[in-house]
Amino acid sequence: MKSKKIQIEYKHFTKDDELPKHISEIIEKSKEAVQNAYAPYSKFKVGAAVRLESGKIVLGNNQENIAYPSGICAERVALFSAGALYPTEKVIQLAIASEGDLIDEKALLSPCGACRQVMAEVITRQGCSFELIILNPDNSVLLFSKAEDLMPLLFGHE
Ligand code: THU
Repeated sequence: MKSKKIQIEYKHFTKDDELPKHISEIIEKSKEAVQNAYAPYSKFKVGAAVRLESGKIVLGNNQENIAYPSGICAERVALFSAGALYPTEKVIQLAIASEGDLIDEKALLSPCGACRQVMAEVITRQGCSFELIILNPDNSVLLFSKAEDLMPLLFGHE
C-alpha cells in the first residue's frame, strides 16, 4: 500500500489583480448569460459562456423546473448547446458567474459533479482540455488552465 497525494494548481485573482483581457472578456459574457437564467425556485441565477476555437461564444444559464431534477445547470446548457450547434469545434474556455444568495459571499461557485462529468466528456471528445474560469460571489476569480485539474480520479480516465 502506498499513500498518494494529489495537488492541483490554479490562479486566484482578487480585486487588486488585473485580469488578462481574454479572461475578463469571457467573464463579461458569463455575466450577460446570468440575465437569462430561469431560476424561480432557487432564486440563484448562473450564467456560463463557452468560447470555441473559432472565437464564437455560446451562452448558457440554469433552467429550472417545478419537478426539480428536470432542471439543468448553466454549464451543461452552454456545453450541450455548443455541441449541438458547432459539433466539430473545440471548446477553449468555459466561464461561469452567478447572482443570488444561495451560497455565502465567501463561498466558491464550484461546478457540481454532473457538470464536471460533462466537462470531462468534452475534453475526451475533443482530445484536449480547456480553461475553466469561475467568478466567485466575492468577485474574485479562479482560473484553472486545464478544467480536468478540478476533477481528479475521474471514471474512465488514466
Ligand atoms: N447551478 C448551476 O447552474 N451551476 C452551478 O455551478 C451550481 C448550481 C444551478 C442549479 C440550480 O438551478 C441552482 O443553481 C441552485 O443550485
